[in-house]
Amino acid sequence: MFDDLRGFIHKLEQKGQVTKVEGADWELEIGTINELMVERKKPIVLFDKIKGYPQGYRLVTNVFRTGIALRIGLGIPEQLSDVEVIRYWKDVCDQYKPVPPVEVDSGPVMENVLNGEQIDIFRFPAPRWHEGDGGRYIGTGNVIVTRDPDEGWLNVGTYRVMVHDERTLGFYISPGKHGAVMREKYWAKGQNCPVVICFGQEPQLFAAASANVPWGVSEFDFAGYTRGRPIEVIRGPITGLPIPATAEIAIEGFSPPPSVDSRTEGPFGEWSGYYASAAREEPVVSIEAIYHRNDPILLGQPPAEPGGTGTYPLPIHTASPLWTALEKSGMQGIKGVWVHGPSNRIVVVVSIQQRYLGHAKQVATAAAALIQGEGGTGRYIIVVDDDIDVANWEQVMWAIYSRCDPETSINIVPGYLSSPIDPVLPPEKRGRRDFTQTRVIVNACKPYHWINQFPPVNRASPELRKKVLDKWSQLFA
Ligand SMILES: Cc1cc2nc3c(=O)[nH]c(=O)nc-3n(C[C@H](O)[C@H](O)[C@H](O)COP(=O)(O)O)c2cc1C
Repeated sequence: MFDDLRGFIHKLEQKGQVTKVEGADWELEIGTINELMVERKKPIVLFDKIKGYPQGYRLVTNVFRTGIALRIGLGIPEQLSDVEVIRYWKDVCDQYKPVPPVEVDSGPVMENVLNGEQIDIFRFPAPRWHEGDGGRYIGTGNVIVTRDPDEGWLNVGTYRVMVHDERTLGFYISPGKHGAVMREKYWAKGQNCPVVICFGQEPQLFAAASANVPWGVSEFDFAGYTRGRPIEVIRGPITGLPIPATAEIAIEGFSPPPSVDSRTEGPFGEWSGYYASAAREEPVVSIEAIYHRNDPILLGQPPAEPGGTGTYPLPIHTASPLWTALEKSGMQGIKGVWVHGPSNRIVVVVSIQQRYLGHAKQVATAAAALIQGEGGTGRYIIVVDDDIDVANWEQVMWAIYSRCDPETSINIVPGYLSSPIDPVLPPEKRGRRDFTQTRVIVNACKPYHWINQFPPVNRASPELRKKVLDKWSQLFA
C-alpha cells in the first residue's frame, strides 16, 4: 500500500495510466484539458510548469477514474470483474475493525512551514476549472478534518474548497453531512470550528473521506484499516488536530460562525452537470498556517463530464457501503447492490432472494433510508429478484417492465434530504431552504403472493446451457 499520493502516481505511471502536460494555464486551460482527456478516457493528467508557477509545483487530476487505477489505489486484486469489485469492497467494509492513526513527531508535510506574513494560498496553482466557476477551487480532491466537540471523534470528509483571498478559504458542505453537523455544534456554542485541510493525500484516506462512512466512525481509523496499517499523523501546533504526515499540502485554521464571517461561494460546475447551487453565502476558514512538501502535488477531482460516472468508475463509494448497511440493519437475502446514473449515485438497484411476503418492500424502504448523499442521491430505488444482474441496466429494465405493476408496485415518498446542488429543486423550495427530495421506490420483483404462478422465463436452463457449452466449446472460446 502507498504511503502517499506521489507513490500512487508513480505506480500509475508504471502502468501507463498518466499523461504529462507542461505549460498549461490554471485559468480554464487545465480544466478544459482535463475535460477533453476525460472524454477520451485518459483522465489521469499530471500538470507541471503551470503558467506563473515554479517547476515542480504540480497538479494531478482524477487518480481513481480508470478501473485499473481504482483497483491499484485501493489494493483490490486487478483481475476482479466490476461486479466482483463491489462485493469485494463490501466484504472489506463488513469486517471493519478500527485502526487508529499513530502520532509521529514530524514528516514530509513539514518540509515547509509557513506562518504569519508568509501565509499565501496563491502559492499553489489552484485552477479555475469551468467557465462558469465563481473562483479558483484549490479543493476538489481534498480532505477536511474536524473533531466532534461533544463526542471527541475525528471526521474526515471531502468537501469543495474555494479560494477567497491569500488567507481565506470557502468550504461548501451539504446539509446533514458529518462535517456540517460538527461545525454547527461549535458555532452553536459561539466557538470557531478548528479545521485541518489537506490538498493531496494518500489514496485510502481520500477514498474513506469521500464515501459513506457511518456517523461515529473516524475515516482515519477506517483508512488505517483498509490500507492495513495506521495513518501517521502530526499533532497540529495550532488546532491540535492530526495532520497526515505524508500529505502534499495542508492548512490549519478556524471556521468562525457564519454570523461573524461568511462569503459568496460558487457558482461551481457540479457533478450533477450543472451550476445548480449558483452563488450563495457560505462559511469560511481563516488560514493560520500552511505546511507543504517540497515540489507539492495538488490533487484535483473536478466534475468533468455531465452525466458521467465521476470520481469513481464503479459505485464503490455508494453501492458497497449501502450493501453493508442493509445487512447490518438485518435485511436478509441481499444478493447484489449497484448504483447507476451520474456519479454512480442516483438509481439504486438491490437484488434479493425473496423469502417472505413484503420482503422486497422492506428492503426497498430500508435502502431508501440508508443511502446518503447530496444532489438527488438515491432518487430511485429498485428491488429486483436474484436472477437479475444489478449492474446490467437492460436486465433491470426488463424486470421493471415485466414484474412491476405500476398501480401497486411504485411508491413516491417525499421528504428525504437532498441538497442545494440538486438541479431539479424548484426555485420556491430552494428559496425557503427546503432541500428535500422525493424518492421513488420500485418493487420490480415477481409478486410474492403468486410467485409460483408467475410465467416461467424462456432462457435455457443452467444444465442445458452447460451441456451445450461443453459440446460446442470451440464455438464459444
Ligand atoms: C470528488 C468529490 C467531491 C465532493 N465534494 C463535496 C462537496 O463539495 N460538498 C459535500 O457536501 N460533499 C462532497 N462530496 C461528497 C462527500 O465527500 C461524501 O458524501 C462523504 O461521505 C462526506 O463525508 P461525511 O459523511 O463524513 O460527511 C464529494 C465527494 C467527492 C468524491
